Amino acid sequence: PRAHLTINPAFTIGPVRRRLFGGFVEHLGRHIYDGIHEPGHPSAGPDGFRRDVVELVKELGVSTVRYPGGNFVSGYNWEDGVGPVAERPRRLDLAWHSTETNQVGLHEFQHWLDLVGSELMLAVNLGTRGPKEAVELLEYTNLPAGTARAEQRAANGREKPFGIAMWCLGNEMDGPWQLGHRDATDYGKLASMTAKAMRQVDQNLELVACGSSGRGMPTFGEWERVVLNHAYDDVDYISCHAYYQEHDGDLASFLASGVDMDTYIESVVATVDHVRTVKRSSKRVDLAFDEWNIWYMSRWQEKARTFTIDEWPVAPRLLEDRYTVADAVVLGGLLISLLNHADRVTSANLAQLVNVIAPIMTEPGGPAWRQTTFFPFSVTSHAARGDALRVLADADETTTATFGSVPVVAAAATSDGTGLSVFLQNRHLTEATTVTIDLRAFQPTGAVSAQGIWDTDVRAANDLRDPHRVGLRNNDTARLSDGLLTVELPPVSWTALTVP
Ligand code: AHR
Repeated sequence: PRAHLTINPAFTIGPVRRRLFGGFVEHLGRHIYDGIHEPGHPSAGPDGFRRDVVELVKELGVSTVRYPGGNFVSGYNWEDGVGPVAERPRRLDLAWHSTETNQVGLHEFQHWLDLVGSELMLAVNLGTRGPKEAVELLEYTNLPAGTARAEQRAANGREKPFGIAMWCLGNEMDGPWQLGHRDATDYGKLASMTAKAMRQVDQNLELVACGSSGRGMPTFGEWERVVLNHAYDDVDYISCHAYYQEHDGDLASFLASGVDMDTYIESVVATVDHVRTVKRSSKRVDLAFDEWNIWYMSRWQEKARTFTIDEWPVAPRLLEDRYTVADAVVLGGLLISLLNHADRVTSANLAQLVNVIAPIMTEPGGPAWRQTTFFPFSVTSHAARGDALRVLADADETTTATFGSVPVVAAAATSDGTGLSVFLQNRHLTEATTVTIDLRAFQPTGAVSAQGIWDTDVRAANDLRDPHRVGLRNNDTARLSDGLLTVELPPVSWTALTVP
């Protein structure tokens, strides 16, 4: 197969915001306890946080980190996680059928974010709690001084406010599994009421209303319309969540998951803009894709059915998916989709970060390592700079059971005026694809570098026994001549080209 692409610096989509490369840390399984926080581990500091994990998170290049959930937040009392650690209560975590020890809370997590150099995006509990508790939390985090909550924060060791800008108004409130799940009208009113109250404390907040938990939800589309009908003027973003997995060995459709993400984003944009039209509003609401990843969800659903009343483990091994080369190629394709919608998806969070459906894995007392999905994320996060550019593509097609015929190559490009990066996914199962890219508008002169992920065994993965089995590879077929770049993409591959 062949693909011919044309890229021109004038075809801008929008700026590549750092927040597009966010992460997500939930109190879930071994994410926090025995993941990022393991007192006694040889690499842990006196604060109990593993420095080997800190280094990997930095290398991954995550910007904003959403916390503390997820489904967990809908049953969470933020007050349980502040104050003297020894006095904190052990609580049932109903979402994940575990015991929450509260050894890590807001202060500790902010300290960890300072170590990794990332921004906090905080979710409030609108499942079992409401506007009052959200406002009290905001008072605790953002008010400089002079009230009980601000003084409590100072007494707990932090004189200076946290100054948190991004807030999620609950989590997946459309999902029947969510504690406090409600319909779109009830949630829309609650989100509006909570946002208004929070803005009475701090006008500079960026607020995210819950969109659908997925494009497959029966209320998808109508949920966004009704919620925004109530809350359009009060919020800055509506969220999107999407998890992909290979079904019944259909790798061809799985590789084209980015096509589904494109449709998802474009459907939500259409719905948001419909509400804007009806409201005659000049304000634009953007999309926060605040959960996306590959997740073999059915494994968790089977486990969840078997819990008994005496089974409330601390930091159990949950959602510890082991990712293959094929998964990494799909993840690279999802990043291509996000970049191609950088005008409206202005914030996104890979869900999640460590041990739980994560690019980084750890073993208690043992090593930390990169899963296959680590590589496309870290390369894209570092190489995508400046503006996202529209790529004009004339590509052969490949057939999928789920999406019909799709272009054999998915592509995205960014440029900061001095350098250009191009991200490519070859969806062909067995054949290399020859790509020609017309870059004459850039008058490029330097050498091209091409690295990516592919393998003769697309099911290869990294694990405790062989943590370096899969890594980035150089593609030495890339050639640049008279502004035309050619490269051979191996079957089932993801590649990043950088042109100085
Ligand atoms: O990321 C795992 C879970 O997926 C989150 O807790 C929830 O929001 C979503 O359903």
